[in-house]
Amino acid sequence: MFITLEGIEGSGKTTQMAHIARFLESRGRTCVQTREPGGTGIGEKLRAILLDPAHRHLAPGAELLLYTADRVQHVQEVVAPALEAGRTVLCDRFFDATLVYQGYARGLDRHLVQTLHNLLLGGLKPDLTLLLDLDPEAGLGRAWRQLDSGSRGDGESRFEKEALAFHRKVRAGYLDLAAGEPQRFAVVDAARSEAAVRQTIFEILDRRLNRLPTSGAAV
Ligand code: TMP
Repeated sequence: MFITLEGIEGSGKTTQMAHIARFLESRGRTCVQTREPGGTGIGEKLRAILLDPAHRHLAPGAELLLYTADRVQHVQEVVAPALEAGRTVLCDRFFDATLVYQGYARGLDRHLVQTLHNLLLGGLKPDLTLLLDLDPEAGLGRAWRQLDSGSRGDGESRFEKEALAFHRKVRAGYLDLAAGEPQRFAVVDAARSEAAVRQTIFEILDRRLNRLPTSGAAV
């Protein structure tokens, strides 16, 4: 089974990941927790390039190809082998993030984004995508507090430095994708407390676990 978490900056994905992993393990599933960009040795190097705020001039096409390169490596090295072994893969962001950030928000041709995914990754899709939905002003406020307190390194702030208008397009893009695929997406109101969000996610997982296979389709 392949589960992804998506949402704008500061939506609380990373905090909820740990709760979800514990919940799934308590239901007898062996979880692999991973993330994009990153998740592999090569991917962590690509992540450093992609999130470095000094790289303001990174060309949108180069950005798309670097995220795609990260994903191809990640799926080959981590995601596909884990799914084939019957594990549950829990991934902090996946292809929906590319459609939304590079497509909807950056303005690259979404057909091109999708075609790259189809050609290089066989169009691999999660079984379930939890979208933590939050107003960008609230999300960016949280994200900046994490940067100010040092719990997230300043070396990863390239997207936090984007204008509010960019983050509004990201949120709208995610909601558009979710509306188009209601069977795969579950939209969670992330403006509430961590405990309330966690509870809602557990209820969603409870409902969906029975309907989902123990392993997702491998590439
Ligand atoms: P995060 O791991 O803290 O969520 O940061 C990853 C950043 O990279 C976030 O701002 C969203 C962005 N991103 C893209 O623009 N495209 C992608 O395909 C992915 C996976 C992430």
